[in-house]
Amino acid sequence: MSDNLLEVRDAVIRYGAAVAVAGVSLDVKEKEVVALLGANGAGKSSLLKAVSGLIPLNSGTIRYAGEDLARVPGYRRARNGMAHVPEGRRVFSELSVKENLFMGAYGQPRARAEQRLKGIFERFPVLADRRNQAGGSLSGGEQQLLAIGRALMSGPRLLIIDEPSLGLSPIAIDRVYETIRSVHEEGVSLLLVEQNATLAMDVANRVYVLRTGKVALSGDCEGMRSQEKLLRAYLGSPVKEADPED
Ligand SMILES: Nc1ncnc2c1ncn2[C@@H]1O[C@H](COP(=O)(O)OP(=O)(O)OP(=O)(O)O)[C@@H](O)[C@H]1O
Ligand SMILES: [Mg+2]
Repeated sequence: MSDNLLEVRDAVIRYGAAVAVAGVSLDVKEKEVVALLGANGAGKSSLLKAVSGLIPLNSGTIRYAGEDLARVPGYRRARNGMAHVPEGRRVFSELSVKENLFMGAYGQPRARAEQRLKGIFERFPVLADRRNQAGGSLSGGEQQLLAIGRALMSGPRLLIIDEPSLGLSPIAIDRVYETIRSVHEEGVSLLLVEQNATLAMDVANRVYVLRTGKVALSGDCEGMRSQEKLLRAYLGSPVKEADPED
């Protein structure tokens, strides 16, 4: 049997006529951190959304823990240990910190959710101090921790994180990456999307680089570092094309 926890094969994702992901295959092994890099619009978030069941694949397959996910809805993927920290954090700004965290424990027995909440507050004292404050009143860095905490409330086996460093101060980024490291040490597998290759490659075991919906480069981080020039060429134009309506 394969030791892949997640196996994506020939994934294609279209929005109408536009192809966002054009035949991507990637694996995440048990207890591995895999980084998915790529410039704006490369298809990173689309692929993550298809993995967690937020959008469908047009073709290709996704297997998780040996199961073909084609007919498995997102809530069942979550119940089977997949948790997704979305790009832009998506904290519920009107809800309190505590209520936000409980959203991540949806469907769990109360006692287990309370136990996990305790663990999250120990991990993030800053959230414990602000437990009754509205999510929207937190700083960007605190909101990122809240979004990660919310995902951890499900006790994930595979944690999917989309651009956790985006828009954060260096100190907040350090805190986020320290968390990612410790979650990995606790045995969780991670699929991490980043535009900051240096950050991601510091924590990842393997890397895939997406370019316009295709895997342009992949390999272990060691080997990838020696291809820095190539890597930079693929990631070096992180500016989105001008919106015609602007
Ligand atoms: N809901 C949508 N409807 C139409 N097109 C979309 C939609 N979401 C994404 N796209 C398009 O699909 C392509 C890939 O987008 P995606 O968000 O997956 O890229 P990304 O690599 O995550 O980019 P970024 O780094 O900017 O977050 C882009 O061309 C984008 O405009
Ligand atoms: Mg994205």
